[in-house]
Amino acid sequence: MKLNRLTLFCYAVLLLSIFAVSHAGVTSSYVRVSEPSEEMPLETFPPPAGLNAPEQVHITQGDHSGRGMIISWVTPLNVDDGSNIVRYWNADTDGSEKMSAVASTSTYRYYDYTSGYLHHATIKGLEYDTKYFYELGTGRSIRQFNFMTPPKVGPDVAYTFGVIGDLGQTYASNQTLYNYMSNPKGQAVLFAGDLSYADDHPNHDQRKWDSYGRFVEPSAAYQPWIWAAGNHEIDYAQSLGETQPFKPYMNRYHVPYRASQSTSPLWYSIKRASAYIIVLSSYSAYDKYTPQNSWLQDELKKVNRSETPWLIVLVHAPWYNSNNYHYMEGESMRVTFEPWFVENKVDIVFAGHVHAYERSERVSNIKYNITDGMSTPVKDQSAPVYITIGDGGNIEGIANSYTEPQPSYSAFREASFGHAMLEIKNRTHAHYTWHRNKDDEPIIADAIWLKNRYYLPEEETT
Ligand SMILES: [Fe+2]
Repeated sequence: MKLNRLTLFCYAVLLLSIFAVSHAGVTSSYVRVSEPSEEMPLETFPPPAGLNAPEQVHITQGDHSGRGMIISWVTPLNVDDGSNIVRYWNADTDGSEKMSAVASTSTYRYYDYTSGYLHHATIKGLEYDTKYFYELGTGRSIRQFNFMTPPKVGPDVAYTFGVIGDLGQTYASNQTLYNYMSNPKGQAVLFAGDLSYADDHPNHDQRKWDSYGRFVEPSAAYQPWIWAAGNHEIDYAQSLGETQPFKPYMNRYHVPYRASQSTSPLWYSIKRASAYIIVLSSYSAYDKYTPQNSWLQDELKKVNRSETPWLIVLVHAPWYNSNNYHYMEGESMRVTFEPWFVENKVDIVFAGHVHAYERSERVSNIKYNITDGMSTPVKDQSAPVYITIGDGGNIEGIANSYTEPQPSYSAFREASFGHAMLEIKNRTHAHYTWHRNKDDEPIIADAIWLKNRYYLPEEETT
């Protein structure tokens, strides 16, 4: 009898220890081979051949529900030869009857640089779930591309997003991009900010914006990249006389912000398949009474989970980050918006900024006020999972210094470069995976079956 009690006690201790371990955060033991984050030289990305050939082609969703596409490209000359026109047709037809759209065209100056001619054309009224061809340029300079429109918005529509942040244009960025492209599942990219890192170069060398456009074209011309702005998009340089924040980014990357009644391209929303995606700006005012704040307040009321069960937020500075780099930089936005995210049961928040990978537990920290002193994150099944995916692989290198011990809100963290995939299966389940760029794409370094907060608000296990 005594032995039985002892045995039972031992089993209890064992079970408790297993339980405790399975709920502790993991700091990955994977050690990434240290190497300099070297940028690919400008010559790696020459402009395409041909007179006034279109280049830096990229597309993004052009309306609120997925029947529109913004087609963007650059030409060196602004001649009246049709180089500002996109022609497109349903891939099921022979292309003899092409539709066309005329772009708005602009240039910008930045210090000693003048941009090429930046064209943005919005195509609307596309069929859902349909392949389209489109072509740009004239004469011998014509270049042809294609894209798939998303399925009609609906609660059980399966859809797969790639997730990339802080990409830059180093050899590591190249590995990340081509790993992602080798995965046939990705249908669109959620981009968590920090694109070209032009501002890390003397005088914010704007040619790096051109080379970035050429670098991402093999993916961004064929599937929409949903852009959020990071700090490297600000390009504010008082010493150069460049004091208009976000000037290069907003000239080069258009988004459908008016379709969600936003007054700024820096914050907006789209619906795509079964997801409602809200893009926020860490570097625009968001306190009470500001445009972004009042827009988000109205926006959250518009989300209909019967139509789009998955509520996803894209923002640059992470709210839950246990890396020593950029520690607490997202804190004031967290304090401002977190109660709304919990109340509205946001499923996932993707952020960038920190050049490493981290996934949080479902936690919230909304009880704090200046008198009660309660300021510890607690488990909360109405809270989002926070994912830091600023690990695209840019010139600034890896963020490899973490706070110790690992805080309880941190479920998994690793100082490596890579990207993520979010495979939405139906209204209740999505499979989320993270892929190091040092591995082959099929190797999964972190994974979790996410349960929808509106339809299945149960705790998840990895
Ligand atoms: Fe950043």
